[in-house]
Amino acid sequence: MLKASFLWLGLLMSSVGFSQSANEYPIIPKPAKLEARQGKFQLSNTTTVMVPVGNDEVKSIADLFTNQLNASSGLKVAVRNSNKMALPGNLISFQPSQDASIGEEGYRIDIKPEVVTIEALNPKGFFYAVQSLMQLLPSEVFRGSVNTQMVIDWAIPSCRIEDKPRYSYRGLHLDVSRHFMPVAFVKKYIDLIALHKMNTFHWHLTDDQGWRIEIKKYPKLTQQGAERKETIIGHYYESDPQRFDGQPYDGFYTQNEVREVVKYAQSKYVTIIPEIEMPGHALAALRAYPEYGCTGGPYETATKWGIFPEVFCPYDKTFEFLQNILTEVMELFPSQYIHIGGDECPKDSWKQSKFCQDLIKKLGLKDEHELQSYFITRIDKWVTSKGRKIIGWDEILEGGLSPNATVMSWRGTEGGIAAAKQGHDAIMTPGNFLYLDKYQSDPTQEPTSIGGFLPLEQTYSYEPTPQNLSADAQKRIIGAQANVWTEYIKTPEHVEYMVWPRAAALSEVVWTPREQKDWKDFSKRIQPHLERLGFLNVSYSRAFYDVLAETTPTKDGGLRVTLKAKDDDCQIRYSLNGSEPMLQSAAYNKPLVLTQSGTVKAVAVKGGQVMGEVQSWNYIVSKATGKSVQLATAATRPKNADLAVLTDGKPGSAIGYLDDIRGIAGVKNADFNATIDLGAAQPITMVTIGLVKATAGNVLLPKQIDVQVSDDGKAFKSVKVVTLDPTERGKKEVLKQIITFGQTNARYVRVIAQNVGKVPAGMPNAGKDAWVAADEITVD
Ligand code: ACM
Repeated sequence: MLKASFLWLGLLMSSVGFSQSANEYPIIPKPAKLEARQGKFQLSNTTTVMVPVGNDEVKSIADLFTNQLNASSGLKVAVRNSNKMALPGNLISFQPSQDASIGEEGYRIDIKPEVVTIEALNPKGFFYAVQSLMQLLPSEVFRGSVNTQMVIDWAIPSCRIEDKPRYSYRGLHLDVSRHFMPVAFVKKYIDLIALHKMNTFHWHLTDDQGWRIEIKKYPKLTQQGAERKETIIGHYYESDPQRFDGQPYDGFYTQNEVREVVKYAQSKYVTIIPEIEMPGHALAALRAYPEYGCTGGPYETATKWGIFPEVFCPYDKTFEFLQNILTEVMELFPSQYIHIGGDECPKDSWKQSKFCQDLIKKLGLKDEHELQSYFITRIDKWVTSKGRKIIGWDEILEGGLSPNATVMSWRGTEGGIAAAKQGHDAIMTPGNFLYLDKYQSDPTQEPTSIGGFLPLEQTYSYEPTPQNLSADAQKRIIGAQANVWTEYIKTPEHVEYMVWPRAAALSEVVWTPREQKDWKDFSKRIQPHLERLGFLNVSYSRAFYDVLAETTPTKDGGLRVTLKAKDDDCQIRYSLNGSEPMLQSAAYNKPLVLTQSGTVKAVAVKGGQVMGEVQSWNYIVSKATGKSVQLATAATRPKNADLAVLTDGKPGSAIGYLDDIRGIAGVKNADFNATIDLGAAQPITMVTIGLVKATAGNVLLPKQIDVQVSDDGKAFKSVKVVTLDPTERGKKEVLKQIITFGQTNARYVRVIAQNVGKVPAGMPNAGKDAWVAADEITVD
């Protein structure tokens, strides 16, 4: 069951108002140094914000602060351009400094009851100081208007902060090709980047599913390339055959809109790095201009996700085309870096192209990988000649890295490490920590995502600089970035749900000194921070509050269910009768013991409020629960599969990509052949097994299931054979097979699910190796 809706979360949280947290200085990202002090600076109508005469940029930063403060509080705090200290009332003083130790992006804030002093070398430092100052005020400072029903003490707790970032590159990415996001939303996204003291927005503007930036010289890029005729419904492997919505999809940014967004980002000290993908992920461009593909087309803008074999062909005219595009892009984006993609470029069309093969010979290249290197290097040289630098995904290392390139390491960190060792700058964006398209809570209770699991604490735990690199190579790791691919993210609200608060964890990864990072402390500061996001109408996820469940088998054949909340200030309420747990439901104090199958539901509560989503788990208790299982042919997926999952009482689910299926898979001609030791002979009449059917991914039902029993674990006799239809297609699901037989006495139960071997003719991927995948075997 998917969460009903995440749209209301922001609203709900804004009305909660569990005002002041335990931590008086709940700044995210946590400052490098913060010295707590007694007392507070009281804001009032006589407070003055003072900016030295003649510093317009700092004045406008001070205005940002007072405008927000006044709008949310009703106060009338004024900004004055003055060099005099002697003004009536208390003072917030912006003081440009020459002390280089502050750092280019750094700042200092000294808060005393009578005066707040802010120092920085540059406007950017003042801007970050203001972000911190805002986070020292009540969360309500982030609301859009005054609410006179609440009495709020507009004060800033005394302290002294000295702060600067750990890394120079602090990025957040957004894919607007798979799903287009409107300008107003992009600006809000930039606001949030800036609020978290991140400085880079990586705008992924082109891909197979849509070209989203106007290029004057090539109008068809957006007239045709922005459009796809329809979009796949549900997850890629969700149904067989795949289903499509029949709805044309369109959307792009005009150059005027791009200019507006770039200017807006500059006002928030955010650099926008545009990405124009090449040589792969090029279908949308090729649809509009097929002459730049090896076959000449026709091509279609992609209607589903993945990697497509049709890519740019390295003709001279293709380089001219791409350079003309980049010329317009560089006019629009002042960024030093231009991202040229470079990832996931299949070599099929280059292998088949006489032109490419001749080019490989002519250039003395070894193969198509070196042709990829030639492609990137040629673009790199050209971009460099224009005074800019390229960034590419780590595949640009293939066949030799071009000289001026910076590598964005996404397939783990190896690419970044290799680049750093070669003396190139690298930005870390590893999937396991920083791909915000993955699930952040129990996948069975979340909106469909691409797959994988990335809870908040895992993003928080990320350490961008590998410690085993030399000191010189470590300096080449200039920062990190989280990526947001929107295949399964259609709306701005859903983007926000996936991004926040995980990107807040990232902000601390890239800003806060390593020694200062502390998950427990972050998990306290995240609460007022979520409240801020609520006031900013951000549809953030409350997965942090979702209750976790762990099970262990009990000695007498039941299940012990241990519930946990990540926030120790929360209590857990639960139900065992299927009802929705609420504030008044039973309080969880100790592990629950299930002696029979049933549903456990739980939710975290705090301060009289329900905090997370209700989590719900169905458990099965049978004679097999917790008993040991052997597989005749070891599971090939997942690697190092824990066979205990087969009898752990938790039925599998067919969520996401195949690797996310909770269960065990056998490959090639192997049968799924499992033997369970019940520990002692006993009467049995029924076996059930959950079988995954995901024919789009070659996971087929077995031809037959043979249930066998034994007293000694050596001699087995068959008690029932049932036949199934491996050619059955349709929705991806786990089908529970119930196999009954006349009562028999047995200690060992063997279930042999016979693999069809090769995918039968008439099915997707006919002739490929078929899988059998299963989860949860019960015996009764
Ligand atoms: C990527 O995720 N293909 C960079």
